[in-house]
Amino acid sequence: MVNTASPPMVSASSRGFPYRSHPTGWFHVGWSAEFVAGEVVPLRYFSRDLVAFRGESGTLSIMDAHCPHLGAHMGYGGSVCGDELVCPFHGWQWNAEGHNTRIPYSSRPNRGQRVTVWPVQEVNGLVMLWYDATGAEPTWELPLIPGYDTDTFYPVHPHCTGEWLNRPVAPQFLGENLADSAHQKYVHEATDVPEIVEFSGEGPLWHSRQRMVWGRGKGDTWLTPSGGKVGHLDIQGWGIGIALFRFEGIDDTVQIQSITPVDDTVSDLRMTNFVPRHEPGAVVPTERAAKRIEHLRRQVGRDLVVWEHMTYIARPPLPPEEAKPYLAYRRWADQFYPEAAAPAVSSATGRS
Ligand code: FES
Ligand SMILES: [Fe+2]
Repeated sequence: MVNTASPPMVSASSRGFPYRSHPTGWFHVGWSAEFVAGEVVPLRYFSRDLVAFRGESGTLSIMDAHCPHLGAHMGYGGSVCGDELVCPFHGWQWNAEGHNTRIPYSSRPNRGQRVTVWPVQEVNGLVMLWYDATGAEPTWELPLIPGYDTDTFYPVHPHCTGEWLNRPVAPQFLGENLADSAHQKYVHEATDVPEIVEFSGEGPLWHSRQRMVWGRGKGDTWLTPSGGKVGHLDIQGWGIGIALFRFEGIDDTVQIQSITPVDDTVSDLRMTNFVPRHEPGAVVPTERAAKRIEHLRRQVGRDLVVWEHMTYIARPPLPPEEAKPYLAYRRWADQFYPEAAAPAVSSATGRS
């Protein structure tokens, strides 16, 4: 009889990861289309209960969920009045800055009471939340993908997305894929181990390029209809939780893989694909575009099996070929953990 072990539901630090705190930075918590004006949505990230609501003017706010009055979770039964959140328990009202503005059965609000509000940015149809355990404001901006909302790409939500919720994966398990070219062969079916021709970590941005031969040895395929093709996998990391892939030599598809910790045991993973439209105005990807998304979804699934069951090796025995980019990534990543001794902004550049 086969004993199939379920993935571990223990903290990342019990799996060997050196840091206990959640990393600082921008993290993806859903797509703009999921947050409808006038609706309240409960969320849980960074070991905190949160509530999101889009006001009638269209502004999206995310704040701590529990009402300071007597502790109700405002994501369950709360409502929106104008651009403010109304608690379901006794009707106290909170504005987008988190201040109490109204107590319906009292002559004045309690201006000293405040709910913690988390910075939010909507970028390319993705909702990004800034997390810093100390409550500090964002120190960097997220770049935009040019042309994402024009006829160039299909609308991302819901047809070009995927999500895997509450998975036992620490954010950096995904992040380290950005410096790992050997797994392309063993996990993602590349014919060879691609060469990392460039890598750098500058401030909050990681960048690396892998030289790929797409479809080598496979003849003509739907992905490479003219046979094997030389190109590059261009990779950006925006902090620990957001990774952006471009498949130069195949097509103009841009993929964002994102991971956001729910608590110290599980995270939500999402993929957002910006796939070139076959025809103007089309909303649902068909033919090659549909295959492309399915293919990308399968590849994330392959990574996930490894990430869910792995343990983290803090001092890995890396051969020289992979040591430089891999260790550069780890040094760069340290800056996002408050307890790491690294300076606030680290820098690592090189060629393998
Ligand atoms: S608990 Fe929110 S108004 Fe009383
Ligand atoms: Fe991967």
